[in-house]
Amino acid sequence: MPVKNRFAELLPEITEWRRDLHEHPEILFDTVRTAGVVAEKLRAFGCEEVVEGIGRTGVVGVIKGRETGSGKVIGLRADMDALPIHEQTGLDYASKTDGAMHACGHDGHTAMLLGAAKYLSETRNFDGTVVVIFQPAEEGGGGGREMCEDGMMERFGIQEVYGMHNWPGLATGQFAIREGAFFAATDIFEITVEGRGGHAAKPHDTIDSTVVAAHIVTAAQSIAARNADPVENVVVSITSIESSSKAFNVIPQRVEMKGTVRTMSPEMRDLCETRLGAIVEGIAASFGATATLEYVRNYPVMVNHAEQTDFAADVARAVAGDCAEAPLVMGGEDFAFMLEERPGAYILVGNGDTAMVHHPEYNFNDDAIPAGCSWWAEIVEKRMPVG
Ligand code: NI
Repeated sequence: MPVKNRFAELLPEITEWRRDLHEHPEILFDTVRTAGVVAEKLRAFGCEEVVEGIGRTGVVGVIKGRETGSGKVIGLRADMDALPIHEQTGLDYASKTDGAMHACGHDGHTAMLLGAAKYLSETRNFDGTVVVIFQPAEEGGGGGREMCEDGMMERFGIQEVYGMHNWPGLATGQFAIREGAFFAATDIFEITVEGRGGHAAKPHDTIDSTVVAAHIVTAAQSIAARNADPVENVVVSITSIESSSKAFNVIPQRVEMKGTVRTMSPEMRDLCETRLGAIVEGIAASFGATATLEYVRNYPVMVNHAEQTDFAADVARAVAGDCAEAPLVMGGEDFAFMLEERPGAYILVGNGDTAMVHHPEYNFNDDAIPAGCSWWAEIVEKRMPVG
């Protein structure tokens, strides 16, 4: 079965929604306008229940099937937030907000799930309940975590959850998925090195915090190279180094560094945190300096559950004729929190040959809408069939 005909009919309307969202990007939890648009449409579609303010600015809609005797409840999730990027697409519907841009296609995700909600409200061709979930702050703010902490799964009785993200480089409207660990745990850290500042011509009177910092940067590379099992996937990146001196002739008192750790298993996550702490402390001590590590565990590893992944791939094959094996992604995904609470699966839908997500010239590909919407609708109709 190819894409549903109804979505070919709805394509101009869904495209219009998508481009309106693109023009009005909102960052992290500031998705106030977007949430308002979503809630208004869900009410207009005839959802039984529309609840705003879950996970601060998240929106949840409930759609009951023609029958509900199966007692099944499926959650479908889209993200709504944009990125702090200055758009350089030159599109006539480019961002009207300077310094904010839908550079990850969440405008497309929101529009596609709205399209599916419209279709499901019209047809109700399923036995059970659909909960459409629109979350804020996927890009680092943990909006999915906040919705879970607000008790969303229990309140709406959600039994399993599905998510979708567009993917540049994958043919438009094609799908890719993988079982098990899929997206990485994304931790962040700050290191502060405290030495003894002084005159650059009298280094012997100082404890040079830049030299200490440089040794920490180098030694941190040994975590992935020498501590982690080589068959594991581990990234340790130091992304910012700032010294308290802005002069040519002053050895700084302090150096502050920032970075991120990406891992695919709880064991590697523990190892990285422990080793980074030991390196920071040990190297500083060896130079007579002090250093502290502030390590924050952000998104956990996103793990696709076996049964739901098989099912999601079957539906993708039905819609697009094929479903590829997706690569491991060392980026993070906030949907990980929902998959920790309920079984489910997350799939990639091809965005075609476009700039990569988070690039200022990226744009969501509207031609992927019929496939994406059909996948959502088929998940519901196949998982909760009538009769
Ligand atoms: Ni994204």
